[in-house]
Amino acid sequence: MKYNRMLIEEESPEQYGYDRIKYNLTESSTTDKTIKDVGIQIDDDLVLCYGDHYGKPELRELIAKRYNVSLDDVIITVGACMALFITYSALLAENDHILIMKPNYPANIEIPRTLGCDVDLYELEISKGFQMDVDSLLSRIKPSTKMVSITYPHNPTGAMINGEDLKKLALACEENKTYLVVDETYGDLTRGERLPHVTDFTDYGICIESLSKAIGVPGIRTGWIVNKDPKRQEMLISAKEQICICGSVVDEECAYQVLKRNDELMTPIKKDVEEKFDIVCAMLDQQDVLEWVRPRGGVVCFPRIKDEVELDTQEFYDVLNNKYGVFVGPGRWFGMDDRYFRLGYAWPEKEELKEGIKGILRAVRDVRKKP
Ligand SMILES: Cc1ncc(COP(=O)(O)O)c(C=O)c1O
Repeated sequence: MKYNRMLIEEESPEQYGYDRIKYNLTESSTTDKTIKDVGIQIDDDLVLCYGDHYGKPELRELIAKRYNVSLDDVIITVGACMALFITYSALLAENDHILIMKPNYPANIEIPRTLGCDVDLYELEISKGFQMDVDSLLSRIKPSTKMVSITYPHNPTGAMINGEDLKKLALACEENKTYLVVDETYGDLTRGERLPHVTDFTDYGICIESLSKAIGVPGIRTGWIVNKDPKRQEMLISAKEQICICGSVVDEECAYQVLKRNDELMTPIKKDVEEKFDIVCAMLDQQDVLEWVRPRGGVVCFPRIKDEVELDTQEFYDVLNNKYGVFVGPGRWFGMDDRYFRLGYAWPEKEELKEGIKGILRAVRDVRKKP
């Protein structure tokens, strides 16, 4: 079979059933919003036609301003997920060498694998704070490397890169004629100032982002690709047209209304995220069964049950899910050992977050072999 189902999707809470989960710490976005929360109003004279194949111009205009690029450099997609599929499938061929971070949002690895690329994983290690060492990544770029793909703020670790390292990587990629894809899906969830966009440094840079995570509207299914090279843009739009011709005019109208109010909507969300971040830090700093790295961006972290804690991970997840009603994203979703898990701290309410973390610690205690 050509496509393999990704565990993160197969075991996702929406497929399992939200109503079967008491404390949902699996999510990588802020709390889901309603149409009312974000003030969307759809006029009944909206024409349900095929839309502009690149995406609603007014929406692309807002995005172009964010990136300081022109309207023609922006293509709207069905979420960042489709942006990744279009980008990889349009620009990569079988056996092409691509350097990519692990762990990662699985589609970032699975799509190039499906395409038959030579997927070269750059591993982020907990012992190094999940930090990428830009020089060691650069040393792995070969003359034939077609693409480097990075994600910041990083999923599932919450790690960050600094602007200088991003620029260094961008210039090295340009010199080698290597595309540098930056998945910025969590860009608006950067703690402090956002990173510069790679498209500021090189025309080999491609940015991918969406509305899903920061505002918490993944159901609008709207993302985008920013790319300044016209020839490449032709390939990207061709891929999009072969998949879906154009996006949904309803989704794009909703996305436009939301993005227009982005700053206003993000102010209370950022405050809420910070308060939840403080809860996670306070609770995880005060226990001794998990090792963890404080996230520097995004709304997830990737703790690990310490080696000295002897347990059966299957039993741990059984107790966690069935006795305490807590769900997290197990390491296997990210091709990692199940001692790791992704903890999403911004989606649940604060009390649910606290109960969820307590449940994790209790489940470890319950199944631990030698306390
Ligand atoms: C790093 C990253 N990229 C892309 C996506 C896809 O997001 P969406 O298609 O909802 O915009 C996700 C979703 O979890 C993600 O974490």
